[in-house]
Amino acid sequence: MLYLIDTANLEAIKKCCEYYPVAGVTTNPTIVSKENTDFKKLLYSIREIIGADKMLHVQTTAMEAGEILNEAIALKNVVGDNFYLKIPITKEGIKATAMCKDKGFGVTMTAIFTQQQALIAANAGADFVAPYINRLDNIVSDGVHVVEEIVNMFNMYDIKTKILAASFKNVEQVHKVAMTGAGAVTVNPDIFDMLIYHPLTYYAIDDFCKDWETVYGDKLVADLLK
Ligand code: G3P
Repeated sequence: MLYLIDTANLEAIKKCCEYYPVAGVTTNPTIVSKENTDFKKLLYSIREIIGADKMLHVQTTAMEAGEILNEAIALKNVVGDNFYLKIPITKEGIKATAMCKDKGFGVTMTAIFTQQQALIAANAGADFVAPYINRLDNIVSDGVHVVEEIVNMFNMYDIKTKILAASFKNVEQVHKVAMTGAGAVTVNPDIFDMLIYHPLTYYAIDDFCKDWETVYGDKLVADLLK
C-alpha cells in the first residue's frame, strides 16, 4: 500500500520525505490556501523536494470541463512528470476526466463519497479515485465500508483505477482502510508520525539502552568493533 502526504507545507514535506517511505504529495485548494504563498513557486518547491519520481496530485479550481483541461495543461508545465490532476466529481468533472485522459494527463477524481461516484469516475478513465473517510464518519456514515465496497467493485469488474483514500483523522481509520485492500492512502504529517508510534516501542528501547549500559557503559556498537 502506498502512503502519500496530504499537505503543501514545505517543511512538513521535507521531514516526511527524509524519514518515511512517501510515494507522493496530494494537495487541494484548502491545503494550498493554508500556506498563503506564491502558488507557482510552491509547486516548484514541492517538486524540488520530492524529486521527479514521486507523484504530485494538484487540484483544479475550474468548474467547466474546457477550463479544467486548460488547468491540467498549465499545471503539467509546472509540475512535470508524475503529475495527477485532482478533479472533483461533478458532471463537468467527469467530462473533463475523459478529455484529460485523451491528452495523456493523470487524473485523480476527488471528493468521492459514494461507491457509484467511484465506479463512474473509474469508467470515465480516472487513474485514482479519492474517497473521503473521516468526512463520511463525521456524518455517521462509514468511510471504511464505502472503501471496502469500492475495492470489491473494482475487483469484480476488473477495473484498473486505483483507490487513494483521503481524509483521515486517526490511525484506526488508516489501518481499517489498509485492510480493505485499497492501494493508497494520503495522510497529513501528524498522522504519519502517529502511524509509527507506540509507547511500548519506547519502553523496549529504554530497556535495551539500560541493559547495554550496565555492561558497556557509553560505548556504542561501532566503538566496540574498531
Ligand atoms: O485531499 C482531501 C483531504 O485533504 C480531505 O481531508 O481532512 O479536509 O477531510 P479533510
